[in-house]
Amino acid sequence: MSNDNPNVCPVEKSGSLDNRIRRWLQNPQKILGPYVRESMEVLEIGCGPGFFTMDMGRMVGKSGRVVAVDLQEGMLQKVKEKISLSGEELNIELHKCESERIGVSGEFDFVFLFYVVHELPDQESFFRELVSLVRKDGRILIVEPPMHVSKQAFDEMLDIASKAGFVVLDRPKMFPNKAVVLGKD
Ligand SMILES: C[S@@+](CC[C@H](N)C(=O)[O-])C[C@H]1O[C@@H](n2cnc3c(N)ncnc32)[C@H](O)[C@@H]1O
Repeated sequence: MSNDNPNVCPVEKSGSLDNRIRRWLQNPQKILGPYVRESMEVLEIGCGPGFFTMDMGRMVGKSGRVVAVDLQEGMLQKVKEKISLSGEELNIELHKCESERIGVSGEFDFVFLFYVVHELPDQESFFRELVSLVRKDGRILIVEPPMHVSKQAFDEMLDIASKAGFVVLDRPKMFPNKAVVLGKD
């Protein structure tokens, strides 16, 4: 159920993305708190095993919704199990995308990509598709890892996003990661 692309984090390594140490180092409530509110419609792209997804589901509540997207069925299966085990009524929809097409419809208040953009095969087409999925006053939070993504690669990504119609609104400090908040031009 994993992907053949060597850039894509395999399902077998999903344990490293979801454990107590990570929760202590990258607390989802702290990272998402400034952006996610009750009733919001949130799109999480590359949700992996759902480390952030469950918290977002709780934060938006029953009046909001989270659409959690991943390329790998195995990752979505892990999120599904987590929702089921929690016994909570969370408004989380799971969507398996294609590697070069997100393929969801609607407009979202908040889009979240944590450690994902460097795995995308075509950032230009990705940001072009994303434009139509973000509300006029919507926000996108992108966080990239320190080792896999150089400053130059991060700046190139911002350049591609700006050509697609996004502007940089903030550069939140998440050392040692690289982070940016984008909005629509
Ligand atoms: C390093 S993991 C991060 C997972 C999650 N965001 C987290 O921080 O725990 C990257 C995830 O992005 C997904 N991914 C890679 N390429 C993708 C694409 N083209 N579209 C959607 N998801 C993708 C992978 O399947 C993997 O689950």
